[in-house]
Amino acid sequence: MDYFTLNNDTTIPAVGFGVFMIPNDGPTYNATLAALKAGYRHIDTAAGYMNESDVGKAIKDSGIPRDEIFITSKLWLQDYGYENAKKGIENSLALLGVNYIDLYLLHQPYGDYLGAWKALEEAVEAGKIKSIGISNITVNLWNKFKDGMTLMPVVNQVEFNPFTQQKELREVMNEHHIRLEAWYPLGHGNKNLLENETIISLANKYNKNAGQIILRWIYQEGVISLPKSTNPVRMKGNIDIFDFELSEEEMTAIQALDTGKGTHNPEDPANETRLMGLKIHD
Ligand code: A2P
Repeated sequence: MDYFTLNNDTTIPAVGFGVFMIPNDGPTYNATLAALKAGYRHIDTAAGYMNESDVGKAIKDSGIPRDEIFITSKLWLQDYGYENAKKGIENSLALLGVNYIDLYLLHQPYGDYLGAWKALEEAVEAGKIKSIGISNITVNLWNKFKDGMTLMPVVNQVEFNPFTQQKELREVMNEHHIRLEAWYPLGHGNKNLLENETIISLANKYNKNAGQIILRWIYQEGVISLPKSTNPVRMKGNIDIFDFELSEEEMTAIQALDTGKGTHNPEDPANETRLMGLKIHD
């Protein structure tokens, strides 16, 4: 596994295993354990996924030392605001069964964002969280929040894949050395992407599958990816991307696939209303 360095000089495995939409009480436990056995050392969960406890149990049962595993979790909107966020952080620590979290993100850009951010900053001071970051932040949202932050985020986790390249956002994030993390790196199984002829011809050339070509491209772009697979062969294959290199021309050919759009617009008020209404506890 290769690592990237973050703007606070910590390191992060370049590819992580995402557990979005995998149920708790078994499926997430099994998937996380399988991922760790396959060689993943970076697990991406969230309070909002409601599966932190399975992730924690799998990490314990894997027998792999805690300091060799990079855990990301995220605070849900219901726990935003300074006081609630302090409790939300404690809750994540308890559900994961750990005494520190490697990376903790503000999951969505609504509500009392900066109050929650302050609680995250204090948790870093207290050693409960090593690094903090943001997620689903567009350029406009960044401009709205950035002046209220003392600690700079280390990452911004957004939708990112060859069809959704976030070019303007990346330029702005680069100015602050904030690395992008890719959710839906494989377009969430989008056939138009996975069967795209540029991708397929590279897969044939390098004797890799389409997913591996996309993940290699993301890696060479300097972006952390969080592919999801429940298929053991693809799960293993998705981290087997460090034994070949795409040429500059091949990188450019994939860059040309950008549509400039994604499936999720964080600035859409309908998303704000819908997500603010999602409750994960009483
Ligand atoms: P499966 O679980 O059967 O492997 P994303 O990470 O962008 O959300 O994409 C996840 C989707 O992509 C899942 O449907 C997953 O299906 C599929 N997938 C995962 N890895 C690969 C791969 N290497 N090639 C093709 N499809 C993949």
